[in-house]
Amino acid sequence: MKVLLINGSPRKDGNTFVALSEIANTLEKEHIATEFFQLGSQPVRPCIACQQCVDKNRCIFNDDIVNRLIEKAEIADGFVFGTPTYYGQPVGTLQSTIQRALFAATPLFAYKPVASIVICRRGGATAAFQTMNMPFEMCNMPIVTSQYWNIAYGQTKGQAALDAEGMQTMRTMARNMAWILRHLAQEPHPDNQQESRVWTNFIRSEK
Ligand SMILES: Cc1cc2nc3c(=O)[nH]c(=O)nc-3n(C[C@H](O)[C@H](O)[C@H](O)COP(=O)(O)O)c2cc1C
Repeated sequence: MKVLLINGSPRKDGNTFVALSEIANTLEKEHIATEFFQLGSQPVRPCIACQQCVDKNRCIFNDDIVNRLIEKAEIADGFVFGTPTYYGQPVGTLQSTIQRALFAATPLFAYKPVASIVICRRGGATAAFQTMNMPFEMCNMPIVTSQYWNIAYGQTKGQAALDAEGMQTMRTMARNMAWILRHLAQEPHPDNQQESRVWTNFIRSEK
């Protein structure tokens, strides 16, 4: 079993990396393999709602990192998405990545456990955390929780390692992820038993 650790920070070895590394070490102790996936500082386009991806499991744009994440998702059993807090929100490139990857390739993410983790210097992390979880909640992805929201504090590179409670929160979440993965392996989701999807909207024409 393998968990993909996605680092949304442009600082590859910053505080988000510190928190993801704590999770990786804990998962490895639980005999779960891990792989880092760095977004770095490269640009990522937003979704342009072209719908060209429908039933293809790939985004039409091949010039950034999104299809590489989708390829990794194909063989991953679980995901941790990490982001610093920027103005009370996740990093913009990570949000674009998640929106395009999930829209293009929902079946490769559905029913696989996922956790969001958020780093901040001082405030806004809970808002960013809630924003991070929104897409996963509508893609049938079980969200892995911990003893607290998955938040750690730090500003300059490496400071998050000094947040003892934050690091413990990461380790607890990682152990919960391992536990859930072991159980899901015994009883995979019966994907073929889902109802056909009902779509509604709230438009009313007035006469
Ligand atoms: C553009 C920008 C906006 C930020 N906004 C916030 C914020 O709203 N709240 C906060 O606590 N920290 C904020 N920070 C600080 C980062 O979240 C913090 O330094 C974090 O440790 C960076 O993580 P990294 O080392 O993984 O990049 C901001 C940093 C930047 C560059």
